[in-house]
Amino acid sequence: MVQPTPKTLKVWPELPEMKLIEDRVRNALNSNGSLLGKIMDHLMMAKGKRLRPALVVLASKSYPCDKQAVIDVAAAAELIHMASLVHDDIIDNSDIRRGLPSVNAVYGNGASVIAGDFLFARAFSLLTTHARYGVVSVMSEAISRMCEGEMDQMSNKGRLDLTEDEYFGYIEGKTASLLAACCHAGALVSKAPKQFAEAMRKFGLYVGCAFQLVDDILDITADARETGKPACNDIVQGVVTLPIIYGIKHDKEGANLRRMLSDGPIDINAVKSILYRTGALEFCYRQAHAFIERAKESLCFVADSASRSALSLVAELVVARAIKDIPGYEVPDTHHASIWHHAPTS
Ligand code: IPE
Ligand code: IPE
Ligand code: MG
Ligand code: MG
Repeated sequence: MVQPTPKTLKVWPELPEMKLIEDRVRNALNSNGSLLGKIMDHLMMAKGKRLRPALVVLASKSYPCDKQAVIDVAAAAELIHMASLVHDDIIDNSDIRRGLPSVNAVYGNGASVIAGDFLFARAFSLLTTHARYGVVSVMSEAISRMCEGEMDQMSNKGRLDLTEDEYFGYIEGKTASLLAACCHAGALVSKAPKQFAEAMRKFGLYVGCAFQLVDDILDITADARETGKPACNDIVQGVVTLPIIYGIKHDKEGANLRRMLSDGPIDINAVKSILYRTGALEFCYRQAHAFIERAKESLCFVADSASRSALSLVAELVVARAIKDIPGYEVPDTHHASIWHHAPTS
């Protein structure tokens, strides 16, 4: 089994709010139900990058904010994300999450459905305390979009004629909508002007699209030790991602790739080498980069400040995660080379 130490981003342990958010998440996982309690303990054994709560905090910093609301909304965002991961691992048949056996691998699908629902419920207990800011509707809308995106992806499994537009539609729903909601909610709890809140929402949306593109690259290029998830699970499960869509259209190798994916059993290494050779990963990386540029443009409404620099840095780090795996690209400087560290496991 891989170690419970998925790579994480280094910027937010420095945010003083993160420790309080961590306590709030831990409290929210408390359950008297004995099996539910065990599952929640299991979930506390490994933490992820905490990207969503960090975005809530950073988006709230430009205006004087309600500190209690920021902490609760950020913790709720992480709980919603955790719920979606627990359910997603059932859908994707995935047996590793955050470097540990997934909830479905240990406790089965039925218990995982209930555990995910429990996490959603706990998230909304935190959010309703601050309903006056509009955060309940922002987060519920994001969850609806996540469901639509996950459902679209599920119903398109194995469809090798999936278009780029369809792909972008479902990554926006399943991933970017929550990141957008986190940034939007952060702005709402600071009572920022409408134009600012909308700029934040857009920033999160673009960062979210880039984040999923990078995740889809890492599915192919990284190993389970690096991501804390099974390598190449998208290929194995027939989830059609942008590198595959691009590879299939390649004039020389496309037909071969299509045959490999449709005939089965799939030779993963052969598929991977076609994706490297055809430039599919580089194409995907460049698309992620373009989203990050758009994200940074959305920050033009944010006054030049430490929080704007931090948001901009987060955006860059999201794409920098993949750069070492893209042939012909070099990690630009020592700063980017040192963005990773191993997350504490409690
Ligand atoms: C995984 O998100 C799900 C995707 C949207 C790709 P993260 O990569 O942020 O997962 P954790 O929270 O760090 O485990
Ligand atoms: C899932 O996308 C996004 C969610 C809504 C949870 P993925 O299926 O690519 O996420 P991972 O790779 O399992 O983390
Ligand atoms: Mg998945
Ligand atoms: Mg993935």
